[in-house]
This record gives sequence, structure tokens and C-alpha cells, in this order.
Amino acid sequence: MRVQVVDHPLVAHKVTVLRDKNTSSPVFRQLTDELVTLLAYEATREVRTVPIQVETPVAITTGTAFAKPTPLVVPILRAGLGMLEGMTRLVPTAEVGFLGMARNEETLDIITYAERLPDDLTGRQVFVIDPMLATGGTLVESIKYILDRGADSVTCICLIAAPEGVARLQEFHGDDDRVHLVVAALDEGLNELSYIVPGLGDAGDRLYGLAE
Ligand code: URA
Repeated sequence: MRVQVVDHPLVAHKVTVLRDKNTSSPVFRQLTDELVTLLAYEATREVRTVPIQVETPVAITTGTAFAKPTPLVVPILRAGLGMLEGMTRLVPTAEVGFLGMARNEETLDIITYAERLPDDLTGRQVFVIDPMLATGGTLVESIKYILDRGADSVTCICLIAAPEGVARLQEFHGDDDRVHLVVAALDEGLNELSYIVPGLGDAGDRLYGLAE
């Protein structure tokens, strides 16, 4: 598994404004969208392409198109939805699947409560989007789910990760070179409520305005 923390002043600035508890939901959504496009630029570096002929006003030349099967983008419900538009803007031919996962508070097992993915992902490059990599439980299960359906690769794009979450991913998928993690910031750790510290709070609430 490859882990990439995107070290860029534009990324760092946007993360800083996202962290600010006084940033409003509309600004938070806008910045999330902008940040995803910057992270996706790195995360899609190995997306498969084919050469195509294109006729400019001056000459015929060889250009680049996305190869088939097209990439699949999978937002993890609900906060991952805030990253979807930024991602599909960069990869407009991508298909979109959905995964909703939650922890059963009694058994601590991760349960899949919503799923809309092609049964067969053979040959697909999959991009999972989820703003916060906290304990890593959801992402470990999502990656397993997608690889079990035959995907060629899974690239997870997160805004902020906790070292505990990265370690959990390493534990389960560390030896797998089909798995790639791209994050904007790697934070200090989790608090007793499993919030990322310093983090930015509950990403879903901040995106969709249900905080407080
Ligand atoms: N999910 C969030 O939205 N925020 C955290 O800090 C951890 C998990």
C-alpha cells in the first residue's frame, strides 16, 4: 500500500480554513470541492489512458483519452458525497457507485447499510472518497469489498487521516500494491470519542449544516 500526504501550500491553506470552527457550511463545501480536485490530480496519476487522434485547427495529432473500463468513483455515505462533484469534474467519464457503512455499536462490526456497485469490478480502477480516515474500520471494509469484486486497484482519497487509521489500513492491506491512500493532512491522533485531533470536527455535519 502506498501512502501519499500531498504537501502543497494550496492544499495546506485550504485544510487550515476547513479546520477553522468558524468556517460556514457553504464555504466548507466549496473548499472541500476545491481540495478534492487538488488531491485527485495526484490520485489519478496512474489512471489508465489510451492514445487517440485529435484534429486541431492546424494538424492531426495524438492525444489522450481515459481507457475502458472507465474508473469508478465510490463516495462513502454520507460525508463522501461532499467530495463527489470535485472528483467527477476531473474524471467526467467515471461511473459512480455508493457504499454506506456504519459501526454496530454493540458488536463493533462494520455493517454495510447501503450498496450500489456493479457486481463485477474486474479490471476497474476504483477511487474511494471519504473525508476523514479516523479508526480506519470503514475504509478497511470498503477496500476489501471492492477488491473482492475483482477491482484492479483501489485509491482512497481522504482530507484528513489519523495515524491510527493509516496503521489499520497498513495492517489489513499493507502488503497489497493495489491499494493507494492519498491524504491532504496526517494529524496527531484520535481522542476518546474517535474524533481526529486537531481534525476539523464531524465532516458530515460541517458539510451539511447539522453541527450543534
Ligand atoms: N469522522 C469525522 O467526521 N470526524 C472525525 O474527526 C472522525 C471521524
